[in-house]
Amino acid sequence: MSARRLEGKIVIITGGASGIGAEAARLFAEHGARVVVVDVQDELGRELAVSIGEDRATYYHCDVRDETQVENAVNFTVQKHGKLDVLFSNAGVIESPVSILDLNLDDLDRTIAVNLRGSAATIKHAARAMVAMGTRGSIVCTTSVAAEIGGTGPHGYTASKHALLGLVKSASGELGKHGIRVNGVAPYGVATPLVCNAFGLEPEQVEENSCASANLKGVVLKARHVAEAALFLASDESVYVSGHNLAIDGGFIAVKQ
Ligand SMILES: NC(=O)c1ccc[n+]([C@@H]2O[C@H](COP(=O)([O-])OP(=O)(O)OC[C@H]3O[C@@H](n4cnc5c(N)ncnc54)[C@H](O)[C@@H]3O)[C@@H](O)[C@H]2O)c1
Repeated sequence: MSARRLEGKIVIITGGASGIGAEAARLFAEHGARVVVVDVQDELGRELAVSIGEDRATYYHCDVRDETQVENAVNFTVQKHGKLDVLFSNAGVIESPVSILDLNLDDLDRTIAVNLRGSAATIKHAARAMVAMGTRGSIVCTTSVAAEIGGTGPHGYTASKHALLGLVKSASGELGKHGIRVNGVAPYGVATPLVCNAFGLEPEQVEENSCASANLKGVVLKARHVAEAALFLASDESVYVSGHNLAIDGGFIAVKQ
């Protein structure tokens, strides 16, 4: 196996400007991929592409809630690089936690619009490009421990991630005949802007809380650890893995459900 595990691969990363997506963009580029970073945070996304090197990374503005923008992002990638091998569908939002008794359905809709509908649009257009060109591609979606169990996140978020995992399984079923794999990576709590902003916490506080409730002690979960798992699923090392949700949770789900 090559030390550079994505040599020559063309990758789209949604939500690639920040957190787990940005870490994946750096790691995938180190492993020989050409990466198109898709996000709505234009300044951050452009800065990231420059820091990686513009021969390896490009930023493309795309709000995954808008199917036309998603289609444009896939077309841009295929026109620029000639193909699409990997989609890392990672863009996500979380609403502030409230009791189900006070559930705000507009907040729930907004979360589902990105986490489920946005992923569905992205999988659709990426898979179209892969099928059209006969590419044996890999699609990886960032799910969550909240895709497998309740009680770890807000209600809309938990519902959106359970639904996303359903979509991962469903899409893997249909796309298998084209040689396309579809998997999830399910992180436990990582101190990214998503979590810090939703809960009004500093990164150190998020890490303290995560460590306190973690099953596996002695490791602080970082975005890099999640990116490493996404790299495995994106690369040919996982050539027979599909329909799987790879938990990066130190055993949390296994003992909590
Ligand atoms: N951080 C955690 O503890 C944790 C745990 C489990 C799952 N996740 C998931 O990881 C993924 C990445 O989140 P993160 O923690 O790195 O947070 P983050 O906020 O650092 O990154 C999320 C990115 O998604 C982008 N985004 C949001 N809405 C978008 C839209 N409509 N179109 C395009 N891009 C959009 C944001 O601009 C941001 O850059 C999310 O799907 C999140 O649900 C995170």
